[in-house]
Amino acid sequence: MHPINLKVNNQPFTGQCSPGTSLLTLLRDIGWAGVHRVCQTGDCGACTVWLEGTPVHSCLYPAVRAEGHLITTIEGLAADGQFSPMQQAFLEKQGFQCGFCTPGMIMSAEKVTFESEGELRLAMRGNLCRCTGYQAVVDSILLGKEMEARQLEGVGNAPPPNNQPQANHSLPQIGQSIPKQDGPEIVTGKPVYTSDWEPAGLLHMKVLRSPHPHARIRHINPEKAKNLPGVHLILTHQDVPRRAYTTAGHAAPVPDPLDHYVLDYKVRFIGDRVAAVVADSVAIAEKACQLIEVDYEILPHVVDPLEAMGREQPGSGQQAASSGSGEQAMTPPLAAPILHDEPESSQIPDASRNIAGYVAMESGDLVQGFAEADRVLEKTYRLPALQHTHLEPHVCTSWLDEEGTLVVRSSTQVPFHCQRVLSELYDLPLEKVRVYKAKIGGGFGNKQEILCEDLCALATLRTGRPVQWEFTRQEEFTCTNSRHAMIIRLKLGVRNDGTLTAMDMEAIANTGAYGNHGCVVIFLTGNESIGMYRCAHKRFLGYAVYTNTMPAGAFRGYGATQGIFAMETLLDEIAAQLELDPIEVQQKNVIRPGDVIAIGHGEDHFNLIGGYALDECFAKVLQAMDYTPGQPPVVNGPRRRGMGFAVSMQGSGLAKVHTACVHLSLKPDGRLWMRTGSVDVGTGSDTTLRQIAAHVLGVTVSDIDITTADTHTTPFDAGSYASATLYISGQASKLAAEKLRSQLLELAATRLETEPGNVILAGGTFEANGNVLTFQDLAATPHPLLSAESEYFADESTLTFAVQGVEVEVDTETGKVSVLRSVQAIDLGKAINPRICLGQATGGSAMGIGYALMEELLFDPQGKILNPAFRTYRIPTAADVPPMEVFLIESQDPHGPFGAKGVGEITTNCMAPAIANAIAHATGARLTQLPMTPERVWQAIRGGVADFGYELGVV
Ligand code: FES
Repeated sequence: MHPINLKVNNQPFTGQCSPGTSLLTLLRDIGWAGVHRVCQTGDCGACTVWLEGTPVHSCLYPAVRAEGHLITTIEGLAADGQFSPMQQAFLEKQGFQCGFCTPGMIMSAEKVTFESEGELRLAMRGNLCRCTGYQAVVDSILLGKEMEARQLEGVGNAPPPNNQPQANHSLPQIGQSIPKQDGPEIVTGKPVYTSDWEPAGLLHMKVLRSPHPHARIRHINPEKAKNLPGVHLILTHQDVPRRAYTTAGHAAPVPDPLDHYVLDYKVRFIGDRVAAVVADSVAIAEKACQLIEVDYEILPHVVDPLEAMGREQPGSGQQAASSGSGEQAMTPPLAAPILHDEPESSQIPDASRNIAGYVAMESGDLVQGFAEADRVLEKTYRLPALQHTHLEPHVCTSWLDEEGTLVVRSSTQVPFHCQRVLSELYDLPLEKVRVYKAKIGGGFGNKQEILCEDLCALATLRTGRPVQWEFTRQEEFTCTNSRHAMIIRLKLGVRNDGTLTAMDMEAIANTGAYGNHGCVVIFLTGNESIGMYRCAHKRFLGYAVYTNTMPAGAFRGYGATQGIFAMETLLDEIAAQLELDPIEVQQKNVIRPGDVIAIGHGEDHFNLIGGYALDECFAKVLQAMDYTPGQPPVVNGPRRRGMGFAVSMQGSGLAKVHTACVHLSLKPDGRLWMRTGSVDVGTGSDTTLRQIAAHVLGVTVSDIDITTADTHTTPFDAGSYASATLYISGQASKLAAEKLRSQLLELAATRLETEPGNVILAGGTFEANGNVLTFQDLAATPHPLLSAESEYFADESTLTFAVQGVEVEVDTETGKVSVLRSVQAIDLGKAINPRICLGQATGGSAMGIGYALMEELLFDPQGKILNPAFRTYRIPTAADVPPMEVFLIESQDPHGPFGAKGVGEITTNCMAPAIANAIAHATGARLTQLPMTPERVWQAIRGGVADFGYELGVV
């Protein structure tokens, strides 16, 4: 150990650290939690601090080299009770969502110099953000620099911390861009995330993971590891209950295969769990993992989903015939190994063929539909597995409280589902399991899984001690979930006037080693893509197939993203072949109000059309893009510019499944208290749900305290996924507020000696006959309990629509594609909080750019992921994302709260097809594989692709 003396935020520190300790670890260990641990490889910037005023990545900086130096962290910026100008600017422009990147972003932004917005974006490319799409970050930094300049000139100061811009009290709460209420704690680096707090006596867990894609554990010997000082517990498959469950966070009865075990005698992918170690420190637990001896019987493995299900390529003639049953495709004997042959597993549609999920939907007569077509086009698309890369990893802490209740504090999108799973796994009464969340640093679907809570909880039950398990970034990339890689074959029949006559889609999703989410994801692949267009003759066949690779799961867009890519690019292509305007073809065929959104019969009315403003979306985007049908690409030497467009739709919540409850009450001090089980994953729903209630109750958001997502103190909520929070929890908030409003009006009427109908509730007061009462007055009045609880069950999933336009520039010599412009219009019903909606739009769009151009998990023949780090798995930086123009089009949905629909996922869906269509417009090259890397674009151009009638260099 080395002695070390340094100053942090002007406070002296004297202590010791080992030679390998990073400055990041030291700073967090001594309580500076605003320094966030994300990649630990210097690739993301989340741990940026200043060393003598110079920004450094503290994860790479050895603590011993900081000896004698002054370190400044985010906590040191708000000097003398004042926000720094940059902190203030991030609050005003809301340059954050989950906030996990924000401390590092602000520490870099304070020091950045630039001459233009383009230079700023380049200079900030070392700081990654997965939520915002960087638009609000860039706007914040530009404002921050302006404020710094003003401050240097002595004009104006920033207000003190915990005093951020608030709502305009004189305006209705609905439709106002009220700041996210957690802003001050985010920009000052408060210890609000799961790993920022530790109970006394905490033990740490690490997991030994499989080096083999498929193997049976013949023997496992943990003795050496057990004897390591500091080790408290080792768990193997012999020590845990054998109960099949799914890691997917779905409401019961779950639709997923029950095929997962806390620990199993078989491993099914490189990275699968083998054993868990609980020790005094992370380092000891890691060392103990290496001492566990495992004798594996290596089994044959399969990583290709077609091989795994015994199929050839789609379109090869071996796919299902027009009967739609799919059975024909499944007759040859299977040569591939079977992943799930264990007798305890259930709800697997066809384990003998590695089919984890199967969907078949058909309407009309395909043979007739294609016979009616003047042109038929069929293509096969290959779409990659992606990683969510939420910056905060999976992490949870568990302990037993004084009454013996198992408490789990977790970064989860689904606390109530997690509670149910833990209760079932360990035979605990539901009330003896409490799950709650701290602030969440992003999830995007990957935390709609129970991936760490089960083992952590069991470790606490066995040791009686608090235990924490935090995933490394490598584990995030290799041992959690991905977006489903898919092979999609799509065949369209179209008349010469562009009318669709037949649509036939088949999707084969690689669901990896476990089937969590696979069947629902594959359903949405068809439902949200070919379901978006009117056509009498349709068929969709979908398979989620087991392979010996990391499982795939929920990921923003949830299967719709893949299906919409195929649909929107093939429709654009067929329109071009017919020399029709692709926009005209889309508009001619797209669904309209009154249409039934169903293919076949099994899933009738899963989605429906409520509010509808798609025509206005088209008009806004086309006008902003200055689009003229038939316009040629712009050619500048080897650079060619083109425009592309795409439409998408996504349901709000899960019809007939999603439930949310909200409790509202008047507190003795006259403030209001909302309790909701809903989960704010960083989007700002804690603010928007209060906006809804405040609007009904004639108060402001700041008059309502909120407690969220705690199975013991808040009512049930299905969780944050499927674009449901605003639509469903928002409706529950509205209903609860309306009930409480009636109670309040009745009490006020009694006090004011009038009828409730005569009392005006507005601006935080009750007024009748010239007399006024405040909420405090009512609270002081003897009264029965003033509280209301609502339960909202979604009978329908209303559809949100979006239109995306992009302009790209393709360098035909290198294949590099630059997105120059992005214009998007979202038919969102009602923007409860426009700025939060814009943040969702730009964040989703940036994710779509990543999907289109750069993101792909690469696998070796064993299924091992080859790029498990931000340096090799690139996500968009500020420099990769263009300025984005977003139009929020309101259409007053009859089902959502105040007419609002979900916007969480839709913007991710249409970016990749719009870019592909723009590349085709620019070059004639039609890409059918994502991401559209420079190599693939270059090859497609050189492949002489001339589907659009252009040849390179000839317009
Ligand atoms: Fe940047 Fe979430 S706000 S990662």
